Amino acid sequence: MTSKSDWLKSLGVRYPIFCAPMAGGPSTPELVAAVSDAGGLGFLGAGYLSPDETRRAIRRVRVLTQAPFGVNVFIPETVADERDAVIAMKAWLREQARDDALKAEIDAVHPHPTSAETFAEQMQVILEEQVPVISFTFGCPEPDIIAKWKAAGACVMGTATTPDEAAALEQVGCDAVVAQGYEAGGHRGTFLAMDETRLIGTMALVPQVADRVRVPVIAAGGVMDGRGLVACLALGAQAVQMGTYFLAAAESGANPAYKKALLEWRDRGTILTRSFSGKLARGIRNDFIEAMARSGLDIPPYPLQNALTQPIRRAAAATGDAEHMSLWAGQGYAMAKPMPARDLVRTLVEEMERVKSLLC
Ligand SMILES: Cc1cc2nc3c(=O)[nH]c(=O)nc-3n(C[C@H](O)[C@H](O)[C@H](O)COP(=O)(O)O)c2cc1C
Repeated sequence: MTSKSDWLKSLGVRYPIFCAPMAGGPSTPELVAAVSDAGGLGFLGAGYLSPDETRRAIRRVRVLTQAPFGVNVFIPETVADERDAVIAMKAWLREQARDDALKAEIDAVHPHPTSAETFAEQMQVILEEQVPVISFTFGCPEPDIIAKWKAAGACVMGTATTPDEAAALEQVGCDAVVAQGYEAGGHRGTFLAMDETRLIGTMALVPQVADRVRVPVIAAGGVMDGRGLVACLALGAQAVQMGTYFLAAAESGANPAYKKALLEWRDRGTILTRSFSGKLARGIRNDFIEAMARSGLDIPPYPLQNALTQPIRRAAAATGDAEHMSLWAGQGYAMAKPMPARDLVRTLVEEMERVKSLLC
């Protein structure tokens, strides 16, 4: 087994900086390639892509770079029948719609759980394309599935939000674990039942996970500069996965209104919410989240709610209305500055070196 210190080298990655997979638009092949080319590890967020779209995106990354990169998938979940909650939610979303065309789009949504067959097809594509790193979130596959991915030559990483989840991921054979703290932007990767008043921050989570598992740990959540990077390495991580900062990068496919909100709505702060997708996720506060909270409605679980709110989110994206988009972002978002991803990696490396020299 590769020692933890040689792990990044064994992946062909120069710096301990991973660009988080960001499904739903932000992680373009251009962003992935720019980060990997600059010596970090870029990740394609394939969670919402079809098998064909996944193949096209992987091939596009390969046109842009020869450096290693990763692909991230969502593990499908079983969902209880929530017919009443879906009907009530649809009626409420209809009331929020500005015009009849949008109301009709909402009426036409018939949400259903993620198909296990489609997921299997997507994984087949990822294995055929011989992607060097596979990461996943929202679950913990059986050991034989992980063994299959590893047998295809991939380094496999799962997402944990507690030390117990990290131990479960190591147990099923993961090569590394992403420790996602409370500060993190986007959806939480939680897969074991937990008390949500006890969510653990990155500073407390990373050392506990590093003590609990033997495999390398990647810290995620709230890291926005060289100080945070060095701190995570000191806490026992081998690398840091940053999402929010890379959202603001020139190559990120985030909607322009989303990028503007990230850079200008600095006093709004973030909140953990189920409003948009049915799964707990951190984003910048906006009118949609506030209105949903006031409604007092039961929110159907992911991916049902995600499908139900899609027409409203799509219409908001088309008109640049950031009050009705999901503005996923971590607690450190006010520190983000827009720049090309290559410059961001270089800046982070320089900051890291400066901080290290101050500590010695
Ligand atoms: C816009 C956005 C989308 C995300 N999408 C994914 C995803 O598709 N898969 C995943 O494993 N994590 C996803 N995450 C979570 C990241 O992997 C990571 O935990 C998080 O970005 C770290 O916190 P930070 O945003 O403060 O850097 C996403 C985060 C953001 C901000």
